[in-house]
Amino acid sequence: MKNNDKYFMKLAIKEAKKANNEVFPNPKVGCLIVKDGKVVSKGFHKRFGGRHAEQVAIDNLPQNITNATMYVTLEPCAHKGKTAPCIDLINPSIINRVVISSLDPNPSASGGINAILNKKILVTKNVCSIKSKKINQRFFTYHEKKRPYIIIKAALTLDGFIAESNGVSKWITNEKSRQSVHFLRSNCDAILIGNKTAIIDNPSLDSHGTGKDPIPVIIDRSKSLKKSLKIFKKNPIILSRDILNNKPMDNVKIILDELYKRNIQSVLVEGGGFTITHFLDSGFFDELHLYYAPKFLGSGLSIFNTIKSIKDSSNLVLKKVDKFNSDFRVIYKRKY
Ligand SMILES: NC(=O)c1ccc[n+]([C@@H]2O[C@H](COP(=O)([O-])OP(=O)(O)OC[C@H]3O[C@@H](n4cnc5c(N)ncnc54)[C@H](OP(=O)(O)O)[C@@H]3O)[C@@H](O)[C@H]2O)c1
Repeated sequence: MKNNDKYFMKLAIKEAKKANNEVFPNPKVGCLIVKDGKVVSKGFHKRFGGRHAEQVAIDNLPQNITNATMYVTLEPCAHKGKTAPCIDLINPSIINRVVISSLDPNPSASGGINAILNKKILVTKNVCSIKSKKINQRFFTYHEKKRPYIIIKAALTLDGFIAESNGVSKWITNEKSRQSVHFLRSNCDAILIGNKTAIIDNPSLDSHGTGKDPIPVIIDRSKSLKKSLKIFKKNPIILSRDILNNKPMDNVKIILDELYKRNIQSVLVEGGGFTITHFLDSGFFDELHLYYAPKFLGSGLSIFNTIKSIKDSSNLVLKKVDKFNSDFRVIYKRKY
């Protein structure tokens, strides 16, 4: 039974992975219904506001099924949001056991297990939970760590500079690299820059039509940015002395608390060097996406400005390397 549970839960996780980012801010969830060792129905949560995975699987069930087991990658919700609570759909005369991978960390949706137990349905939990959490890292980071999932992105020359000494950084990388950044932006709730980048680059910070645009967030303590800058067309969040102080490291935590309060589950930190340095130094980041172009500058603005020694560990795990013509992107994840 235990091994069967893992087998079917892995299939439910596969089902969850069929979802794309249309589900955000909801998590990706997959569900299977199994009778006598055979999958009789399955489903996944396709889009925010749409049917939950459990409902799709229940709707797909053939008639006259009884004593079946439901495998679901996340604890069925107990609250009414855009849809009815999933626990109301679980009928004990059809399903007599529910196997759950991860518990729901969202306090407003959790409590499903108790409601299922109250219906005298057996519950097994935490089956393949590490695997199922991995598909919803942003969701779990947001609810468990009470901050957004943080991706730091930069475009660099091979000698590690993000701009010439005079601030010019357009364009270090090629068009294909930049298109991949537009896609990355479309997958993030917010995009954060420092005020110097806003002034020097005057960026639009959008997805260039690749998908949804992230909310721009600018660190501008003195609120001195000119309203003619492109980002002001996008109703940006301006983080000023209203909440920030004179200590850049403290401010990183203050910024993340603010974004958490605003329900932002993921943030892309795009620079410049000062802004990135304090996220790196404070350890508040989950992924690093570094795009390298075959260029040398000899001197310029660095991505990281704190002096360290080689023995200082960076706690990074290499996840992926991609080629964009002559550029390449390396993705590191932070090890906790
Ligand atoms: N290649 C790339 O990927 C890339 C990406 C972005 C930018 N850039 C380049 O980077 C250059 C700008 O970088 P930069 O390092 O000079 O400036 P920056 O990081 O864009 O902005 C720095 C300013 O933002 C505010 N700030 C940032 N973090 C803060 C914190 N934790 N606490 C308080 N204030 C904070 C401060 O403003 P106040 O001093 O006013 O308080 C600080 O002086 C530009 O040349 C741009 O072209 C390159």
